[in-house]
Amino acid sequence: MITQETIQQILSRIDIVEIVGSFIKLKKRGANYLGLCPFHNEKTPSFTVSPSKEIYKCFGCGKSGNSISFLMEAEKYSYVEALRWLAAKYNVEIEETETSPEYKQQQQVADSLYIINNFAQKYFTDALLNSEEGQDIALSYLKERGFRDEIIKKFQLGYNSEARDAFTKAATEAQYSVELLQKTGLVNIRDGNAYDNYRGRIIFPIHNQSGKVLGFGARIIKKNDKAPKYINSPENEIYVKSKILYGSYFARQAIDKADECLLVEGYTDVVSLHQAGIENVVASGGTSLTPDQLRLIKKYTNNLTIIYDGDSAGIKAALRGLDLALEESLNVKLVLIPDGEDPDSYVNKVGTSQFINFVNENKKDFILFQLGIALKDAGNDSTKKSLVVNQVAETISKINKTEDFTKQQDYIKQCSEILKIEESGLHALVNKFIREKVNKEENRVNRDQRFAEETISTDQNIPVDDDVVSLFNKDEMNERAMIKTLLEYGLKEWNEGLKIADYVFKEIEENQLEELIDNKDLIQVLKTYTKWYKDGLEPTVKNFLYYENQVESTLVAGLIDFKHQLSHNWKSKFDIHVPYGEEQYLIDVYSSLNYLKLRKIKKLIDENQKDFEKAVSPEDQMMCLQTHQHLKQMEMELTKQMGTVIFR
Ligand code: CTP
Ligand code: MN
Repeated sequence: MITQETIQQILSRIDIVEIVGSFIKLKKRGANYLGLCPFHNEKTPSFTVSPSKEIYKCFGCGKSGNSISFLMEAEKYSYVEALRWLAAKYNVEIEETETSPEYKQQQQVADSLYIINNFAQKYFTDALLNSEEGQDIALSYLKERGFRDEIIKKFQLGYNSEARDAFTKAATEAQYSVELLQKTGLVNIRDGNAYDNYRGRIIFPIHNQSGKVLGFGARIIKKNDKAPKYINSPENEIYVKSKILYGSYFARQAIDKADECLLVEGYTDVVSLHQAGIENVVASGGTSLTPDQLRLIKKYTNNLTIIYDGDSAGIKAALRGLDLALEESLNVKLVLIPDGEDPDSYVNKVGTSQFINFVNENKKDFILFQLGIALKDAGNDSTKKSLVVNQVAETISKINKTEDFTKQQDYIKQCSEILKIEESGLHALVNKFIREKVNKEENRVNRDQRFAEETISTDQNIPVDDDVVSLFNKDEMNERAMIKTLLEYGLKEWNEGLKIADYVFKEIEENQLEELIDNKDLIQVLKTYTKWYKDGLEPTVKNFLYYENQVESTLVAGLIDFKHQLSHNWKSKFDIHVPYGEEQYLIDVYSSLNYLKLRKIKKLIDENQKDFEKAVSPEDQMMCLQTHQHLKQMEMELTKQMGTVIFR
């Protein structure tokens, strides 16, 4: 356990803008900072950091909290891990009371692995630069390939001798345990004897985001058909391949600046491009991208450009992971390097500016590209072709519909042209995949929502920033909240045989809709809802999502992500405590209906006021006064009702 003193020391030094700012770009807006929310997909920033209140809040997804909860959320850290991260950043020495033995053990192993890797990196670099064998065999090879001293040193490249156990000896002499050496993958044991795993190889150290060595990739120098070209570190406490992108430590600032990340296959591609001055580049190691790797990229940019050699087997692997990129709203482009070259050899051949030109002029859309490859593979086989159609429909369905709706429509159009099939057919198929996804997600969302509610209820005291709230149109939000409530809970029981929808329809007649609700599209959704309901159809979110009227289905899709805004709104408007629990949805129904009615009454009061000012005869004036009293009475009752519902 970290002591309370340490925690307080850490807390006294932290700067939320600096902390959040090391993950996302923040721009100053008045007293606050604004950026793109790292927790949900968005294109216009609604993630706000208030340095004075030391909190962040996203007005898009509702996530909020302090520096520590930010780290826990963004880095998936535990509370203690977040504290450790902060302690390291602000140079606070950690004092601990007892820790759990397992955790301590794991922490110690990780620390030791870093220390060994650091030792090994220095050893290998020294062997490359200063030993005769290293210079003769490895350095000369690297030089021949065009790598210059400067870049070799920057990437801390190294060499391990061909001798059986040169490194093992050095490491054991330096008192490192054989067991841990094995864990790093640097040393193997055969017949009870320890020997070097990477013999006669060029060593590429792999760094984490803060520049510490996580592991190594070791490339063979002499051609040897039996031995693998590369040997990489095994998975251990610190080397987790699915989370690593080679070069990310050296690329992060350049990616940020260029607002683009170039992805190549190999270690040598990264190093060569760097040498050529193209620094916003990382490597995947030729496998498909994992969600963690995409997340890493997305911290810096939404633009991913994959640069592979044209005949690489890796292309398909790379494409495989990319449906995920679509879900994350990453813009993915693909560039193929021609004529059997790879980025490394190509940049060496044509030089920096021509390389950059080539990349810029040959960026292909990845979905269309993928379709092209698949179609070519399928040839004239009609079964295979229909599989291709299915595949592309599934890919398109992953485009985040609420944000990139037009993009999705464009793809459907273009792909159906390429496939020579009816656009509407592809449309239907895409919808089918979306439907399946929604089915799957519904359960997940329900779970997340419960979690969010629990978290929010402990977050009650976080003050809502007024100038940000006012960015949103409260009326619009309440109208949306009202429809959302109906969509979500309309079919639930109100009381004896009556459903919530019955109650709502009792309260607002269809011909009153225009008076209560401003947004025409929302009215349209309500009318469709009513019609379906009266026809005995199920007006569920899902059914709306696939409803042929795109305006309505898009609107409903947008409502699904529309979380808790009703409550925030009530909170800021009336400064009241909003409970969350079993019957939250009943409260939502009451609240949103009452809000709309209240708004209507306020409008009537205003109009009546004007009539009163214009009235000449005493009778007219009297009428207006009576109307005023009547309206005021209604307003009071509604407010009181809201009170009884809200305060419990
Ligand atoms: N790779 C690997 N294991 C192998 C072959 C390849 O892990 N047996 C990974 C390495 O990360 C390598 C990448 O896939 O960097 C791309 O492989 P390749 O193009 O064959 O190697 P290059 O990095 O281009 O190396 P070189 O230019 O020296 O051929
Ligand atoms: Mn290569």
